[in-house]
Amino acid sequence: MKKHILVIPGDGIGPEVTTWGKAVLEKIAEQFGHQFTYDKGLMGHVAIEATGEPLPEETLDKAKNSDAILFGAVGHAKYDNDPSARVRPEQGLLKIRKELGLYANLRPIMLFDELLDASSLKPEILKGTDILFFRELTGDVYFGEKKRSEDRRTASDLMIYHRYEIERIALKAFEAARVRSKRLCSVDKANVLESSRLWREVVQDMAKEYPDVDTEHMFIDNAAMQLVKNPKKFDVVLTANLFGDILTDEASQIAGSMGMLASASIGDGTGFFEPIHGSAHDIAGQDKANPLASILSVALMLEISFGLTDEARKITSAIDKTLKDGYRTGDIADTKTDPAKILGTKAMGQKVLEFLS
Ligand SMILES: NC(=O)c1ccc[n+]([C@@H]2O[C@H](COP(=O)([O-])OP(=O)(O)OC[C@H]3O[C@@H](n4cnc5c(N)ncnc54)[C@H](O)[C@@H]3O)[C@@H](O)[C@H]2O)c1
Repeated sequence: MKKHILVIPGDGIGPEVTTWGKAVLEKIAEQFGHQFTYDKGLMGHVAIEATGEPLPEETLDKAKNSDAILFGAVGHAKYDNDPSARVRPEQGLLKIRKELGLYANLRPIMLFDELLDASSLKPEILKGTDILFFRELTGDVYFGEKKRSEDRRTASDLMIYHRYEIERIALKAFEAARVRSKRLCSVDKANVLESSRLWREVVQDMAKEYPDVDTEHMFIDNAAMQLVKNPKKFDVVLTANLFGDILTDEASQIAGSMGMLASASIGDGTGFFEPIHGSAHDIAGQDKANPLASILSVALMLEISFGLTDEARKITSAIDKTLKDGYRTGDIADTKTDPAKILGTKAMGQKVLEFLS
């Protein structure tokens, strides 16, 4: 198979982890006889420094002309503590999601048995958890009108949803529920928010078309609590942009670390694959970042964008073997880990490549 992939490493630990995602793609291409070609794009703080823009036109053009995108992370400490900054790295990410029509963010909460002890939750609560989140990605307060009063003492962000935006992501979630365990939980705040009442109305209407799917509605506050109390209760979870952002970070603790979770953003065109974590300035440049989320993002790319399920399975199985052999990065190590097997980013990436061979 011939595919053209754009790699956008971004900021902080982005380039460190993306190197290993790409190395795994190259290895898989070699082993399965695929021809993958690559290009590189700038986005985030590095792009602002180089061009003044968080998402240069050149990167956007390359993105539109590729078959899939592998992304790292954007963000820089200097903007986090400067709310007045006019140009910000995250604007690049929001713009590319909007421009590529990436309205559905899929976040599988995959739990490797070897990491049951890495989580702060009890292993017996976690074992068997398998959740697929569908987070809406191009609406909500992220894209609604933002206002600040003239005296700068009042601010607002408009939480807005149109019916079609809810329908198109709900459709993807219902279809996924149908081929999984036929359970869907839609999370909202319909007891308070008008946009959530529209959300619930649309999902209830669509549920009539899916009588084989057991559809449940849950308020976000309850869902946040249930997720740590009894995560096995969930299978497919459908939710809006802001609620999904928070809920999936919470769910990352089920998998042991942010460094273990990958995501796929899909919509009308090119798919976009990235770890759920950010640029992690606290560990950037120190060879401490866990590259497995980036490598798992590549597995999602192969499966979702290219339909290469055997290749994707080979990657997850190589990660499984790496973990079974006791190798860990610092974020997923625990008191039982052999200190000699706590690896840096590079050594962990190399281990996965070895197990792929
Ligand atoms: N998709 C994105 O690009 C994205 C997402 C979230 C945050 N951000 C940006 O990232 C910057 C840092 O934000 P934050 O600290 O809130 O979130 P973060 O995800 O970067 O880090 C949170 C914590 O998790 C740890 N961590 C994250 N990824 C890890 C990995 N692969 N291996 C080991 N540990 C890992 C970090 O060291 C940190 O302690 C900010 O500028 C923020 O705006 C970007």
